[in-house]
Amino acid sequence: MNLIDKLLARMTLDEKLGQLNMATAGQAVTGPVRDDPATEAIRAGKVGALLNLWGREATARYQKLAVEETRLAIPLLFGADVLHGHRTTFPIPLAEAGLFDPQTWERTARAAAVEAAADGIALTFAPMLDIARDPRWGRIAEGPGEDPLVGALFAEAKVRGFQGGDLAAPTSIAATAKHFCAGGAAIAGLEYGAVDVSERTLREVYLPPFRAAVEAGCAAIMPAFNSVAGIPMTSNAPLLRDCLRRELGFDGMIVSDYDAIAELPIHGVAADLAEAAALALKAGVDMDMVSGVYHACLPEALARGLVGLDDIDAAVRRVLTLKRRLGLFDDPYRHVSASSQVARPEVARPAKELAADVARRAITLLTNRGVLPLAADLRRIAVIGPLADAPAEMLGPWSLAGEGSRCVTILQGLRAALPHCEITFAAGVSAKGHEEGEIAAASDLCAKAELVILCVGETADMSGEASSRAAPGLPGRQRALAEAVLGVGVPVVAVISSGRPLMIAWLAERAHALVATWFLGDAAGHAVADVLTGRFNPTGRLAVTWPREVGQIPIFHAARAAARPADPAEPFSSKYIDLPVEPLFSFGHGLSYARVTLRNLRAARNEFFRRDRIELKIDVVNQSTTATEETIFLFAHDLAASSARPLLELKSWAKVALAPREARTVALALPAESLCCLNENFKPVLEPGEFDIFVGLSADRKSLLTTRLRALAGPAPRDGDAAT
Ligand code: BGC
Repeated sequence: MNLIDKLLARMTLDEKLGQLNMATAGQAVTGPVRDDPATEAIRAGKVGALLNLWGREATARYQKLAVEETRLAIPLLFGADVLHGHRTTFPIPLAEAGLFDPQTWERTARAAAVEAAADGIALTFAPMLDIARDPRWGRIAEGPGEDPLVGALFAEAKVRGFQGGDLAAPTSIAATAKHFCAGGAAIAGLEYGAVDVSERTLREVYLPPFRAAVEAGCAAIMPAFNSVAGIPMTSNAPLLRDCLRRELGFDGMIVSDYDAIAELPIHGVAADLAEAAALALKAGVDMDMVSGVYHACLPEALARGLVGLDDIDAAVRRVLTLKRRLGLFDDPYRHVSASSQVARPEVARPAKELAADVARRAITLLTNRGVLPLAADLRRIAVIGPLADAPAEMLGPWSLAGEGSRCVTILQGLRAALPHCEITFAAGVSAKGHEEGEIAAASDLCAKAELVILCVGETADMSGEASSRAAPGLPGRQRALAEAVLGVGVPVVAVISSGRPLMIAWLAERAHALVATWFLGDAAGHAVADVLTGRFNPTGRLAVTWPREVGQIPIFHAARAAARPADPAEPFSSKYIDLPVEPLFSFGHGLSYARVTLRNLRAARNEFFRRDRIELKIDVVNQSTTATEETIFLFAHDLAASSARPLLELKSWAKVALAPREARTVALALPAESLCCLNENFKPVLEPGEFDIFVGLSADRKSLLTTRLRALAGPAPRDGDAAT
């Protein structure tokens, strides 16, 4: 008998249910509080895991109770949200996604894992993989943006980064892919709201990141709070059991979201908590986060015949298996003292340097009418706005162990970078309040300056969970401040801090430059200064389409054709009569200080079979004297398929570094397999016929180069045959 069988054979029902119970330890509150650090409950073997508790001493203290004072000495699992760094805070995931760089995505997860593991954390509730196309939804900040391919590569990289090669290694933590599934499609962007998407959209858009996470060996998965087509994800047997477990082959642990099992009766699918517990367990949820319902009500569910002992045993087995894989049975303290080198400078320094590097690479230059980089002879700059000197806001949402006091503010960063400049500062207004503020005084400072850096946007708590915004513009009196500053007549660089695209078309039109800085974490201020001064040539690209107005939402590059495409001259066409259909900024948009043109997209062969590799080439010219790194996107459109295909589907991208004036031919290779679509039975097939391939620096259709290829029906060439 192996360890787990032996334990199972000895466990009472109460001890088994204890293993399924994740209690709060009260350090970071991320939902309604249910109970206190359950010291007595741990001693009694009624707790298997603790939520959002970290720190060597704190975790060791609780672990000691479990391993020294319980009958079976089963170690506790410490789980916490490590969304974008642990002690060191990296940019929020939406910003990091804009690097389009899987290696970096992995490195930041690795660095976070090292710090989290040294703090006793064994399980993180990350990566968050909700594809999101609605910036009203505050959680768009936490994930990889709107595109399923980006989401899938992000998932893989994050799982590899958190888990390392071996879950039992002292610096590895188990990843939890969340929130399964489709939470980003909440109706009207309303948090916790219902979702109703077609099976095709579910499979084409929302599942790919989770499939990738499972294939990368992700240890755990968290079902979403929302329902999909009327079935809450916490009890969604078709999606959790049939799709995730059977079809995708996931055999790890499923941990509910916070209190989600207790919320099943409120959804209206369970008459009481015993039914709720049974529904969740039967659907495949192994661990109950915080609600306590499994522990309290599964005995009754068992007595009523709603579940069997084998259902409970299966869940316990998965929880214990994860603990074993994490090495907890060998060392319940997970070598915490050995791996706590995080406090030592040689470990802390790389994380800090990485945070600084990623922060500047994540900044997206949205517009620039010649004012950036800042002229070297500028002597008087006014820095205005409530986000200019707001250290804690730079952390963004979901920073549990991050410290606002460590963050460099934009004002501090600029002052350090421009010692010869006189930099005046006024917040002008508060970030969210409606009080009058000191707008006039701020305008006076602007009038005396040669240039204004206007730092506006959201506070950290305005995105993330429970932060849906029906009107995601500049909050409070910030627009009044911005209008006053723009009215002074001095050039204005608008620097936007936010967890989502904000509806600021008016500002984009009037400011001389617009820079999206998202929430950049510890190194925010230096990163912004590096970009504004031109010490760093911006590389961030939008992982999400930026709408003009709320009325365009949801808006994303992979829309399907309307049979009457938008035509301003044609009344009966698919358009708004009061707004353009185009977004303010397309997916992939982001300027650099170089001027780069793409030309001459060509394919080595215009016909291909499913097993081929399609070889494409494009000439790229840097027409400027600035070295640059560009991201070249490749989209495809299947012209006639069994179901209408999106007009643009992202299939790959390449990052290209170009020296000043460099001209280069860039090869882009694409497995023909990636042009498959799902047939009517949702199986991937390559349908013969024509495909348009588009290549460009963003999804802006006007700027894309195109070439047409043809997929041929079999016979597939022999393995190893190339299409070139
Ligand atoms: C969130 C999860 C998070 C959990 C634990 C919930 O409210 O939806 O994403 O992992 O709290 O903090």
